[in-house]
Amino acid sequence: MTRILLTGGAGYIGSHTFVALREAGFDVTILDDFSNAEPSVIDRLARLTGGPVDVVRGSVMDRDALDALFAAKPYDGVVHFAARKAVGESTERPLDYFETNIGGLTTLMQAMRAADVWRIVFSSTATVYGEPEVFPLTEDLPLSHTSPYAFTKLTCERILEQAARADPWCVGVLRYFNPVGAHSSAMIGEDPRGVPDNLMPFIAKVALGELAELQVFGDDYDTPDGTAWRDYIHVMDLADAHVRSLQALMDGRAHVLNIGTGRPISVLDMHAAYSAAAGRDLPYRIAPRRPGDVPKLYADPSRARQVLGFQAKRDLDEMCRSSWEWVQARAQGWRFNS
Ligand code: WQD
Repeated sequence: MTRILLTGGAGYIGSHTFVALREAGFDVTILDDFSNAEPSVIDRLARLTGGPVDVVRGSVMDRDALDALFAAKPYDGVVHFAARKAVGESTERPLDYFETNIGGLTTLMQAMRAADVWRIVFSSTATVYGEPEVFPLTEDLPLSHTSPYAFTKLTCERILEQAARADPWCVGVLRYFNPVGAHSSAMIGEDPRGVPDNLMPFIAKVALGELAELQVFGDDYDTPDGTAWRDYIHVMDLADAHVRSLQALMDGRAHVLNIGTGRPISVLDMHAAYSAAAGRDLPYRIAPRRPGDVPKLYADPSRARQVLGFQAKRDLDEMCRSSWEWVQARAQGWRFNS
């Protein structure tokens, strides 16, 4: 059985990838410091996958803990999710982002190298394209950063590229567009702390009545309805992309890929779809643009289809419906049928 370590595996994308990897027959261990994940997710993952979850509480910045992990079990590869991910926060605390995101990667890689483990899937982001002017986005576009968060992801991509020139690293870089939605069981999903920055979790709290109204950040963009375009992708499609990425690395096929649908969705499109899922017209008002936002981000997903055979399957309605079912279940405390 192929053994995989998921750093940050208790988080939003990590937990959904855990389920997809187990369903694909992988043996999976989670390493997480639970700084941005609820411990109860482990019990819910155990229920979802029908068996105990191998989890180690710890940080990718703890070299001794990593050495002990790699000494305990011969891993075939690592999926590295563990990182700080809030764009706005990164502008306030850049050093924390450099330490965790860049220092965490190099510490992990040092421990992997010492243990002769060379396959790594890296969680990157479409914001490495900076403020693009050519669409849809292809992987060969010039890279730049508009925030310390994006700087860390871009720097990590370059570290992985440079390291592979000296040692036999086999790397899968996945540039996520906008992950949204939840597993169809409504037992796992996006679980941000405090007031969400991101669009879908914010709309979800409006739908629950926990927040009064959605602020639409700008309606003067060069799009049909004036609101910004993003490429939202269902988190279970994203999880499927990770399974396929690992399978490619097991065959020795390194890659750098956009993981998106290729379909741009506006803020008002998302508002309408979520209102339909929630069964009522959710309140919103037009607000000024958010500093740092780019007008458009959407992928050309063709290389992932060619290299991994990956294509996103779930549509906007399923993204919203699964999110709505998750946030209701979470608000009710997951009254599981016994
Ligand atoms: C989407 C659109 C907002 C909230 C960021 C990171 C990216 C990834 C996902 C980490 C934008 C608009 C939002 C609201 C709004 N993070 N919006 N009202 O900014 O595309 O991506 O989060 O991996 O790396 O860059 O996502 O969901 O914040 O915004 O109108 O209350 O929704 O202006 O156009 P974003 P988002």
